[in-house]
Amino acid sequence: MKREEKLKALPPLLLAWYDKNKRDLPWRRDADPYRVWVSEIMLQQTRVEAARDYYIRFLRELPAVGDLAACPEDKLLKLWEGLGYYSRAKNMQKAAREILSLGGFPDTAEKLQKLPGIGQYTAGAIASIAFGKPSPAVDGNVVRVLSRILGDAAEQPLLRKKYFAELVPAYPENRAGDFTQSLMELGATVCLPSSPKCLLCPARELCQTQSDALPLKAAKPERKKTDMTVFVFYDRGGIWLEKREGGVLSGMMQFYNAEHALTPETAARFLSEKGLTDFCLGKPKAHRHVFTHLIWEMTAYPVRVRADLSALSAFSSLRFFTAKQAENDVSLPSAFRWCLSLIPER
Ligand code: ADE
Repeated sequence: MKREEKLKALPPLLLAWYDKNKRDLPWRRDADPYRVWVSEIMLQQTRVEAARDYYIRFLRELPAVGDLAACPEDKLLKLWEGLGYYSRAKNMQKAAREILSLGGFPDTAEKLQKLPGIGQYTAGAIASIAFGKPSPAVDGNVVRVLSRILGDAAEQPLLRKKYFAELVPAYPENRAGDFTQSLMELGATVCLPSSPKCLLCPARELCQTQSDALPLKAAKPERKKTDMTVFVFYDRGGIWLEKREGGVLSGMMQFYNAEHALTPETAARFLSEKGLTDFCLGKPKAHRHVFTHLIWEMTAYPVRVRADLSALSAFSSLRFFTAKQAENDVSLPSAFRWCLSLIPER
């Protein structure tokens, strides 16, 4: 069977399977473009099970595109906390404002892609699921499914591009959104990365691979390593944090930190040289935090302080937060959140 015939044969097989087997997910209850958009952005960075709660909370707080456009940044980042990639939330807000000024959601993938943070995948997902357009949304799941069915051993980024074009003529007339989701669903529940459940697969007869031999593994990204020493300044009632300016996690809160891995002696000297006198340096803890293109090798010290730190010019960017504020009102990214465990119980 030729490639295009195989692709054409997919919708009836996958749709019948999808109707019987699809998971009941909160974003599948209706096809509102705003809801589809929020779910797809979240699902690019977290698994379905984890995304579910974030999605429900996000829509409860910001039920429509206008609410997102008007949301204060701090609140938005707090709603996004734990999902990572905060630039995605900021881009969503920019896009929400553009959508309002356009008078509503663009309804084609081409127009959607002009909005900040909306790439070919997200545009295809919204255009097909919310507007019924024959616009593919090819993510890692879909590349896995199609590369196995078609027996494609090329590099994944190349395949992704190819599938976006090849899938268009295979789209069914009426159920574009369900076809998009059936491909994703098959990848998520049957055509698994390792140990795929080929016996349960509705496309088994078409499939050239019927194993986890494809897709070829993508080369790992080169990640730059940086050493960092973190000072977890705390006091009886709370902690000291500052806002990150620029770089990764810009706009998020962090503990005070310095370059290089400092030993307890050099760390204590570092603080003294900054003018801190009355402090107690605790035992350090090491942690590796991996970003897409970056690895932080972190050494964190709990530092008990008594004075008002922000009165010292070296620490003037720090602000004091009570434990309750730190938990409820501050968006402390997971790269720094683990440091909270260093603070001794009172
Ligand atoms: N992964 C990405 N988008 C998805 C969706 N709409 N449903 C389930 N899994 C997904």
